[in-house]
Amino acid sequence: MKAAVMYGVGQPLVIEDVTVDEPHQGEVLVRTGACGVCHSDLHFMEGSYPTPVPIVLGHESAGVVEQVGPGVTNVKPGDRVVIAFVTSCGYCDNCVQGKPYLCSNTARLGRADRLRLNDRPVSQFANMSAFAEQQLVSANACVLVPDGVPLEAAALVGCSVMTGVGAVANTAKVPVGSTVAVVGAGGVGLNIVQGAALAGASRVIAIDLLENKLAAAREFGATDLVDASRGDPVRQVLDMTDGGVDFAFEAIGLAQTAEQCFKMIKRGGRAVVVGMIPVGATVSLPGVGFLSEKGIIGSFYGSTRQTHDMPWLMELYRQKRLKIDELISRRYRLDQINEAYAALKAGEVNRSVIVFD
Ligand SMILES: NC(=O)c1ccc[n+]([C@@H]2O[C@H](COP(=O)([O-])OP(=O)(O)OC[C@H]3O[C@@H](n4cnc5c(N)ncnc54)[C@H](O)[C@@H]3O)[C@@H](O)[C@H]2O)c1
Ligand SMILES: [Zn+2]
Ligand SMILES: [Zn+2]
Repeated sequence: MKAAVMYGVGQPLVIEDVTVDEPHQGEVLVRTGACGVCHSDLHFMEGSYPTPVPIVLGHESAGVVEQVGPGVTNVKPGDRVVIAFVTSCGYCDNCVQGKPYLCSNTARLGRADRLRLNDRPVSQFANMSAFAEQQLVSANACVLVPDGVPLEAAALVGCSVMTGVGAVANTAKVPVGSTVAVVGAGGVGLNIVQGAALAGASRVIAIDLLENKLAAAREFGATDLVDASRGDPVRQVLDMTDGGVDFAFEAIGLAQTAEQCFKMIKRGGRAVVVGMIPVGATVSLPGVGFLSEKGIIGSFYGSTRQTHDMPWLMELYRQKRLKIDELISRRYRLDQINEAYAALKAGEVNRSVIVFD
């Protein structure tokens, strides 16, 4: 099968013929239908997060089950599935407390030496490696896709939609009437914006450096727009809210914007960091903020319990209460993946999707 292989930091991905093993106990082989072009993969390509190489990246995908290994009962060949990018054990302390996205055993559940290129092992990313025509995944990472949801929309539920809407609904549990700021209106940030609108936030302030992103945020439910290229965004938010918002979400992956989020919340407010801040970077906060009960928390994968959350997200999409088609600015083939990443870096797209035949 064809897969996009990363050989090193800063190098373009290379399309290669990679072989994939048969599914073992509890595993599923999926034929990829669509895969989103998320900024998280770019952090690995650019080296702000370390990874072994060669590796096949990609973690926002949906496809059709081709083959199941022994003991798999939740899906069968022909089923359409979203693949969650975290595999969980079901029995560790975090899993049994309803936090499978923080499973303590996830690293141990990884597969080694099951993808091969020229008879040498290729690493699997996020237990899936979605920039490939086929993916060998864990059965418990598969969530059935209902009729009426195309695979390209389901793919985005696999990361950006779940991460963004989940950060609002699950991690922060934003109450109706809250004021919300979202710093960064890309694929994830636009989903935080629409999640906040769905939650009944009274103000949803979108902040970005690019006019096209701010225009998209308006379409996704932002009530106010702040162009951060025209002066300090913290000052602008404090002025327009008379002292700050209840919740500020960071959706870029920079220490500086995480610090901005902490400064734009009001007394008792919460900053929620969704972006992947580079390994080794430090976020500095004014300590006096804690005396007014300001807090800052991280949000991973929208705190997903995938078999609970992804079905309701897909149902809202089916009812046209959640925008996913509108997120998809461009479609690319797998052999155009470097172009797709160049467009993401240039800020030209809300989200691109790699579509497979
Ligand atoms: N926590 C998680 O589980 C999780 C999941 C998915 C993605 N992420 C992370 O979320 C972040 C966003 O991902 P994405 O795919 O939406 O990226 P993206 O590139 O589509 O969006 C980033 C947006 O930030 C804007 N931006 C950049 N610098 C800015 C600044 N200084 N001020 C204001 N706006 C600025 C860009 O114009 C762009 O619109 C990444 O760091 C990604 O790795 C985290
Ligand atoms: Zn992602
Ligand atoms: Zn676990």
